[in-house]
Order: sequence, then C-alpha cells, then structure tokens
Amino acid sequence: MSFPLATIDAAALRHNLGVVRRLAPQSRVLAVIKADAYGHGMVGTAKALLGAQAFGVARLNEALALRAAGITHPIVLLEGAATAHQVAQAHAHHFELVVHDFEQLEMLEQFGQIASFAVWLKVDTGMNRLGFRPEEFGTALSRLAACAAVREVRLMTHLSNADSSDSAMTEQQLRCFSMLTAPLDLQRSMANSAGLISRPDTRVDWVRPGLMLYGASPLGEDSARELGLRPAMTLSTSLIAVRQVRSGETVGYAGMWRAQRDSRIGIAAIGYGDGYPRAMRNGSPVLVAGRTAGISGRVSMDMIAIDITDVPGASVGSEVVLWGLSLPVERVAPFADTIAYELLCRVNERVAVKWV
Ligand SMILES: Cc1ncc(COP(=O)(O)O)c(C=O)c1O
Repeated sequence: MSFPLATIDAAALRHNLGVVRRLAPQSRVLAVIKADAYGHGMVGTAKALLGAQAFGVARLNEALALRAAGITHPIVLLEGAATAHQVAQAHAHHFELVVHDFEQLEMLEQFGQIASFAVWLKVDTGMNRLGFRPEEFGTALSRLAACAAVREVRLMTHLSNADSSDSAMTEQQLRCFSMLTAPLDLQRSMANSAGLISRPDTRVDWVRPGLMLYGASPLGEDSARELGLRPAMTLSTSLIAVRQVRSGETVGYAGMWRAQRDSRIGIAAIGYGDGYPRAMRNGSPVLVAGRTAGISGRVSMDMIAIDITDVPGASVGSEVVLWGLSLPVERVAPFADTIAYELLCRVNERVAVKWV
C-alpha cells in the first residue's frame, strides 16, 4: 500500500450516534453531514446513520446527491434556498428549509399553495452570521405561520461559543432563545456538538451534532475520550523511501528542517494535494509502524518527510498514520494552527476510501 487511504469505520459512526442518544435521550437527532460528511463520504455516512431522524447539509447540491443515492430521510438545507428555482427543487425532493432572512421568506410566500414545507426559522441570538434578529422574530414567525406553502414551523438558533470555557455568550444566547420561543408550542433546536456535550440545557426537541458523530470533540481529545467517542476516520499512507541524512544537512523545500544528528528520514506518500495541510509544522505527530514520530520540513504536494531515527523498525512500506485510532485528530490540528473540523473535511477525492 503506497497510497493515502481514509479508512472509515461505519460501526464507529453508529457508536457515536449512540453517544449522542445517551446524552440527549429525549431529543431527535439531525445529523450534520455537510462537506462530504466532514470528509468521511456523505452517502456512506448517511447510510451508516439511518438511525438519525434527519440529515443536515449546507447546500442544495448536497441534498440532491443524497436523494440521488436513494436516501429518503428528511433532509434540512441549513442555509435554506438561495433562489426561487432552489425552492422549487426543494419542494420536488421534499427537503426542509432553514429560513434565515426576509428574502427567503418572501420566496416562500410567492411559492403559493402547492407546497407543504417544514421550515426551520433561524434566530440570530448573538452569532451574527445567519438568522433573524430577535426584534424581527415575531414578524418572521407570523408571516411564516400564515404562509400557504408552509406546513410546519420549527425554531432554531446556532451557538457561537459553546466550546469555550467562558460561557457568558452561551448564557446570553440561551436566555434570548428561550425568552423568544418558550411560550410557543413549536419544536426547537439549539445544540451543535459543543452544546450537546457541555450544556444539557441546549438538548431540546432536536439536537444537531456534526463533529462528535465522527468521533472527535470540539472540546479536545480528553473530552472525546471521556465521552467514549470513537474516531471514524483513520488517515494513513506508507513510506515510499528511507534515506540517511548527515548531521547539519537540511530536508525538503527551503531547508526548513536541519538534522541535529545523523538521522533516518522516511518519505511518506501524502501531501497537501491530498488535503494534509502545508501549514503542518516540523515535529507534527504521525505514527510510523505504530510509533510516534515527527514530520521534518515542509509538506510537499504528494509527500512528507518524517524523522524516523527513533523508529528502527520502520522501512519502505511501513504504515504511516496521520490521524485516527491512536492519534486523535484533535491532537494533530494545532500543529497547523487549525481545528479537527478543517483537517477532516480537507481530505479530498485523491485519497482512496475504504469502509470497514
Ligand atoms: C447550523 C449548524 N448546526 C449544527 C452544526 C454542527 O456543528 P458541530 O459539527 O460543531 O457539531 C453546524 C456545523 O457547522 C451548523 O452549521
């Protein structure tokens, strides 16, 4: 095996859905599988997670791909429809729409009586990304309730800081959402993974986990371990060359790594052309033949160099794990100044996929 491989563990996905259920036994689960299910493969992930009540994607083309693959579950377009044509397609394929501004609301009003949409009215409780402002909520709700194309209105908001130890923003968002929605007999949704894990009071009618379904926690690897989450993706490749480098010599583009001793360098077949970030620094951890080692020098398009001086058993063909079982993606991400989310969803179609 000399090619990069993403091994996706369907049982781990189902197990992680079970963790969500244990945390929020009263809630329905809207499994977020946008961005190719955070790099895991959207259709395969949907098939593994049919135990969820609904799927969430960002865009119409993602939802269409799910339907084309035979997924009949409810699918929510988390950014809603961008044009009247998209509203018509959503209607034709029974997608549910988030409605986050008055333009989207007007498109539904103009769609007329032929549809019976379930819509998710999104309130901006502080994130300032998508959603009606609190002072617009009443108007938006009464117009949606009166809209002939709408069968059911549900209420949602998105938490901006639930993964932070400073909970002031989350408190404010909860207070705002609850003040607006508590008097209403409508289904509600607040929690992403961070909310689900750290704030029991966000586990309302629907929860919307993404990252934790894939076995990582937005609160870091300790949190994932405590919850018993299992990484669903192991990204691996193998060594395609091994060379000796003398003390003082440099490795790779721009000579960014210099040997402090006579060293053995393994060259592994993966690079930024596969989605492994060029920003990964010297010393970023990988596993070579099961032992921790650090990358040396710049990430190339198709290759990385690894200091394997202390992994004497490593040779051409040895397995290299970039993240997954035994090397949580949450531990790797800071070495590229990023987060687990980005590492996972950067993995691209050049990487072979194997479902186990
Ligand atoms: C509206 C919405 N809900 C839920 C999620 C899932 O978030 P997470 O992956 O942090 O659980 C996302 C992801 O960005 C989202 O945009």
